[in-house]
Amino acid sequence: MVGFLKSLFRPKVKKAVSVQPFGSYFEVCGSETLLEAALMNDVPFPHNCTVGTCGACKCRLISGQVKAITDFGYTLSKQEIEAGFILACQAVPLDEETRLEVVSSGIDAPPPEKYTGKVAEARSLTHDIMLVEIALDRPLKYVAGQYANVEYSGLSRARSYSFADAPDINGRSRVSFMIRKVPGGEFTEALHAGALEGKELSIDAPHGDFYLRTSVAPMVCIAGGSGLAPLLSILEDARKKRVERPCTVLFGARTSADLYALDQLDNISKGWRGSFHFIPVLSHEPEDSDWNGARGLVTSFISDALEKEPGEGAEFYMCGPPGMIDSAIEIASREGIALENIHYDKFTDQSTQAPKS
Ligand code: FES
Repeated sequence: MVGFLKSLFRPKVKKAVSVQPFGSYFEVCGSETLLEAALMNDVPFPHNCTVGTCGACKCRLISGQVKAITDFGYTLSKQEIEAGFILACQAVPLDEETRLEVVSSGIDAPPPEKYTGKVAEARSLTHDIMLVEIALDRPLKYVAGQYANVEYSGLSRARSYSFADAPDINGRSRVSFMIRKVPGGEFTEALHAGALEGKELSIDAPHGDFYLRTSVAPMVCIAGGSGLAPLLSILEDARKKRVERPCTVLFGARTSADLYALDQLDNISKGWRGSFHFIPVLSHEPEDSDWNGARGLVTSFISDALEKEPGEGAEFYMCGPPGMIDSAIEIASREGIALENIHYDKFTDQSTQAPKS
């Protein structure tokens, strides 16, 4: 008992953390995460979800060891972890001194703000994906590929969805998202049942550093399921801006009934400056259907995509479930694509959340 009381009054060991390029220094107490301590000390550390799913707090561990609260591999790629990247919101320092480096994504986006909105239109794209248009209280500016956090009173936590439209230079008063129904998902079940019509939503945006880098290198875009939304936004924006570079889009779906936005892709293709190839790949299409296209896993067609766009330095842009992204990064790396040329947005839902360790 005496030992226990003493332990309550024993000064907690503080661990020193320095952050480049800010040149900031702060101390972490007890089981605080690096992000918690940084924010407590007014260090402008990039962050968003704070629960290890968005990747916004990704930074490089230069020295020191950390304990991961959840597996970094859920959000970061194996290659990033090998290169020393961690998630500050999920890392507790173990050593007395830790050095971190925050690597700027270079995105030129306005800072996030809160908007209010209402569902203006919702229509089914497939049996489980809806296109949802939200009318906002004022125009919202974002960079193609970014996302918004959406919530309403009574919802246990905000949900993140990528903007599906190309941005407008003056901001968009209506924004749209492609939202997949998650079985048992509080938000998506209500949405698909029409229960959110007329309800006031709170939108916190823009967020994310998934965007088209300035380059003339061939692009390989890979989408899985509802992951087509940010890629459509990027591609439509690039088409409008008359970007000229070769592009191949791989779109993975289970069956032909799960393909959507084909007209939009066709329009992008027709207006694209440079070669444009679209390869839909079906993983569970019945053998006896009249589908003549590619079958199997979308990642199995990466070599085909690279053959269509020969030349050094292809850039990858991918959005989809964690398993697809991890596998695509592995294959792209084997094909010689440098890690800095692989950009991705892993989407998450309750079915893919990492367990706390
Ligand atoms: S803030 Fe750390 S992963 Fe989102």
